[in-house]
Amino acid sequence: MTRLGVPTLEDWELVRQWRNECLESLRTPFPLTYEQQQEHYRNVVCNREARARWWTVLDEFPEVGNAMVGAVGLENIEWENGRAEISLIVAPHAKRKGFGREAVKLVLEQAFNHLRLYSVYGECYDCSPAREFWQKIVESYSPHWDRTRPSVKYRNGEYHGSYLFTFFTPPTWLGISPWNEKPGVVNDVAPGGG
Ligand SMILES: CC(C)(COP(=O)(O)OP(=O)(O)OC[C@H]1O[C@@H](n2cnc3c(N)ncnc32)[C@H](O)[C@@H]1OP(=O)(O)O)[C@@H](O)C(=O)NCCC(=O)NCCS
Repeated sequence: MTRLGVPTLEDWELVRQWRNECLESLRTPFPLTYEQQQEHYRNVVCNREARARWWTVLDEFPEVGNAMVGAVGLENIEWENGRAEISLIVAPHAKRKGFGREAVKLVLEQAFNHLRLYSVYGECYDCSPAREFWQKIVESYSPHWDRTRPSVKYRNGEYHGSYLFTFFTPPTWLGISPWNEKPGVVNDVAPGGG
């Protein structure tokens, strides 16, 4: 079963190696050094006062037992507005096995049921291989909001647009799951922006 874990310094070094291999998808589009990542671990991941929360994504495998398959975070938390930005990376060897989708579910559960946030937003560049992933995930969740915007990312001599999205806290009082098991049937009803 996929679950969230508490990151160690060693986990964070592994995440640095993964993120340095997919810079086209990231907001910080340059490779981080070992020292920069250690600093992030100490100053952000281990800091209760930081406006961020980070988790490892874990699963169990017959041959190796528990293993880290990704990392997921809530950044730029605005406690007054009850919102935060999602950040996600899946290990290169673990992609396309459903861990990304599970990680989003687990982090939204943390955001809405434990941190008392109202919305979680994100932005994915059109030049990122993750673009289709996010649209699929967002469209299977209700209530959500999404839009595109032009010319926000400069890469390889060209400007690219982006996909902006927001997940809203589910209307639990109705007793229905926010996750739509039938892709394509969505309720785009929520107000607000990405
Ligand atoms: C994007 C990312 C998180 C997806 O994680 P994943 O574990 O491979 O995704 P899943 O296996 O849960 O896929 C969920 C759905 O998205 C689809 N999908 C995943 N990656 C895709 C891709 N690159 N292109 C098209 N569809 C994709 C899957 O086919 C699946 O569809 P289905 O439910 O219809 O079968 C992962 O590729 C990653 O970490 N990329 C590098 C970091 C990154 O880009 N982070 C996001 C920054 S905005």
